[in-house]
Amino acid sequence: MCGIVGYIGNQDASDILLKGLSNLEYRGYDSAGIALLNAEGVHIFKEKGRIAALRNIVDPNVRATMGIGHTRWATHGEPNRRNAHPHQSASGRFAIVHNGVIENFASLRDQYLSGVPLRSDTDTEIVVQLIECFVTGGMGVEAALRKTLKLVEGSYAIALLDRENPEMIYVGKNKSPLLIGVGDGFHVVASDATAMIQQTKQYVELMDEEIVLLTRDSYVIKDLDGKVKRRKPYTVSFDARDTEKGAYPHYMLKEIDEQPAVLRRLLQKYEDETGHLSVDSAITRAIQNADRLYIVACGTSYHAGLVGKQLIEQIAQIPTEVHISSEFSYNTPLLSKKPLFIFISQSGETADSRTVLVKVKKMGYPTLTLTNVEGSTLYREADYKMLLYAGPEIAVASTKAYTAQIAVLSFIAIAAAESKGIALDFEPIHELSFVAQAMERMIDQKAQLKEIARNYLSVTRNAFYIGRGIDYYVCMEAALKLKEVSYIQAEGFAGGELKHGTIALIEDGTPVLAFTTQPNVNNSIRSNVQEVSTRGAYTCIISMEGVTDKPDDQIVLPKVHRFFTPLVCAIPLQLIAYYAALQNECDVDKPRNLAKSVTVE
Ligand code: AGP
Repeated sequence: MCGIVGYIGNQDASDILLKGLSNLEYRGYDSAGIALLNAEGVHIFKEKGRIAALRNIVDPNVRATMGIGHTRWATHGEPNRRNAHPHQSASGRFAIVHNGVIENFASLRDQYLSGVPLRSDTDTEIVVQLIECFVTGGMGVEAALRKTLKLVEGSYAIALLDRENPEMIYVGKNKSPLLIGVGDGFHVVASDATAMIQQTKQYVELMDEEIVLLTRDSYVIKDLDGKVKRRKPYTVSFDARDTEKGAYPHYMLKEIDEQPAVLRRLLQKYEDETGHLSVDSAITRAIQNADRLYIVACGTSYHAGLVGKQLIEQIAQIPTEVHISSEFSYNTPLLSKKPLFIFISQSGETADSRTVLVKVKKMGYPTLTLTNVEGSTLYREADYKMLLYAGPEIAVASTKAYTAQIAVLSFIAIAAAESKGIALDFEPIHELSFVAQAMERMIDQKAQLKEIARNYLSVTRNAFYIGRGIDYYVCMEAALKLKEVSYIQAEGFAGGELKHGTIALIEDGTPVLAFTTQPNVNNSIRSNVQEVSTRGAYTCIISMEGVTDKPDDQIVLPKVHRFFTPLVCAIPLQLIAYYAALQNECDVDKPRNLAKSVTVE
């Protein structure tokens, strides 16, 4: 939700900021703006819509070597130019960009800013006005910033320019992600490293309730009491090429294609010197000590968690529950005596999941995070962590992170089973290598999957995916993917549940796509397909070669071990959604109303 950037150095800031914002556009794209500071003062450019629209209105004659920028996903105030960031203080001295939500903005406004005319409907403006109010009252800027940040409740990643000080960008962070990038004679600020990867690979993490005084040559981190903290930069493990689309028309398609390679990379990363899949022994011990695992996640990561539950229960025989983060926060279930919490998050920044992490840590329970982003908040704050090694995922719709999450969950299940002395009926690395090949074979069937999308989804406003057991969880993800990128209303249902109500929605031509990869439920799901077909549904069966297939099935997946079928199903479900989105002329990589990193609750 919203992306922010900042630059202070010797080069043209506007170009660097605009490029950085383009890289961050996946975080929000309803309006954008930059503020440049030079000897003439602060120059603000903002526009409704995408970064391309902003680029058109930035005056190339304004030269500056420092500035801040923002791409917005609106929370307070409709998306328009007036509410776009940066926001300025009443006198115009200060300009601010902000990612997060100031929950007590109304009470702060009433208490401190009654005489100040506000120019936007945002919570953010309160912060910049408060800073100016305290400075006018005689405080130094740093002290005013710290005082303001002590007063605000909620989440913020902010960067602030002061017209009176062209040597410094002021930065603050609480709950929302923010990094400082370190270069030779310059520094950058960014919501994540992908934004500024063209400038530097060296980044410094910031913790909650910290500020940074950033100049061309130094970064001074302090807490809100002014106590200095020292922290060295780390090197990010990807480079600029990983964030580029190359010859692909969309990131989503590129990221779908990358999945076999990601799986192979994961096998290498988690293979020990004896050639076995292995998980950190501290994690295996934590699992052994637990009497129940609680997986907590949102959206696609939640769907990966549902598959993970099946794997952990069936392979390692450990009872596992899966919870939606935003529900768990206030609707906390009765917990077992010795729970272990597993957080799954591509971004590692999802606010709903982080709220649960903070809560269960306070309760004293051990936590493990599975994430794609090293150094992210959920990564840092959990007791144990496992990386997804999927490389930067830029398309808003998650694809390669989803399959990486399932793969890593299967590693956990396998390691836990082995530590309990449970014999496996398969050789993990061997089977998962087959899975990578099977994924490749499905990727090669793009033309056929495009045809399925054309045939089933070109004129419809709704669609159903049905499955049983592990295929049901695949259907939930298939429906989410279709909804978010093509805007076709789609639901994933347990095949047996349809007749208890939802079947009323089936009419002539309603598309119903069934996944059937498990022999024990093949006949029952085929009966469900018959039931809807009799009522007019236009049905499509996706089965598995030599396991559940029949001659007339529309798609037959290459055979893999029954535990790993969701990894292969992921390819057609993602490609069907992708092609349906193209047919509907949707913005595949940046679907409306969505953002990649959901950093507000
Ligand atoms: C996936 O396609 C979504 N855009 C969304 O559901 C996402 O999975 C969810 O917001 C969770 O994000 P996270 O994995 O970064 O925590």
